[in-house]
Amino acid sequence: MNPLRLAVLASGRGSNLQAILDACARPEFPARVAVVLSDRERAHALARASAHGVPARFVNPKDFADRAAYDLALVAAIEAHVVGLVCLAGFMRVLGPTFVRRFGGRIMNVHPSLLPAFPGLAAQRQALDYGVRVAGATVHFVDEGVDTGPIILQAGVPVQPDDTEESLAARILREEHRLYPEAIRLFAEGRLSVAGRRVEVRP
Ligand code: GRF
Repeated sequence: MNPLRLAVLASGRGSNLQAILDACARPEFPARVAVVLSDRERAHALARASAHGVPARFVNPKDFADRAAYDLALVAAIEAHVVGLVCLAGFMRVLGPTFVRRFGGRIMNVHPSLLPAFPGLAAQRQALDYGVRVAGATVHFVDEGVDTGPIILQAGVPVQPDDTEESLAARILREEHRLYPEAIRLFAEGRLSVAGRRVEVRP
């Protein structure tokens, strides 16, 4: 079977992109990264993509009048590469209804908390401030809200008494790097279906 073609959108460091690229480099993995797009010119994610020979493009938000126009530019850039799944990996912009509807049910995101706890920015800081004993990572489908879509996979990690935001983020990130390629694999194998809020994972 042809591998699933992915578009990855990233704004920064790109460690989740790297985990996806590494997974896709394995011959038996059922997906390949077709294009990487960023809203930040200096995003390290773009360099990581280029190092793997993957087309990488900065799409400058300042070139567009408003969010809807920017979203349409992203849609066009993605569609030029005929992709089956859009993966948000540290993409720091909220995508509007035009984008979400265009790729309905075919957008994933990774978030550094056990959603629905601590959506939005600085999830690890929120978890520490709240005093939870267990934090974690979530891969979910994207809907029109912020970190609200149906949950595909989650993993918990313990919060240690001496944790800083950095140490907790690093522990969570290891789980993100494991979960995201796994969720992509399940999607590529046609094993995910969504009923309301619930995602069924077929064996
Ligand atoms: C990750 O913690 C991810 O969960 C969040 O943004 C961060 C991106 O990290 N959405 P990286 O750019 O993949 O290293």
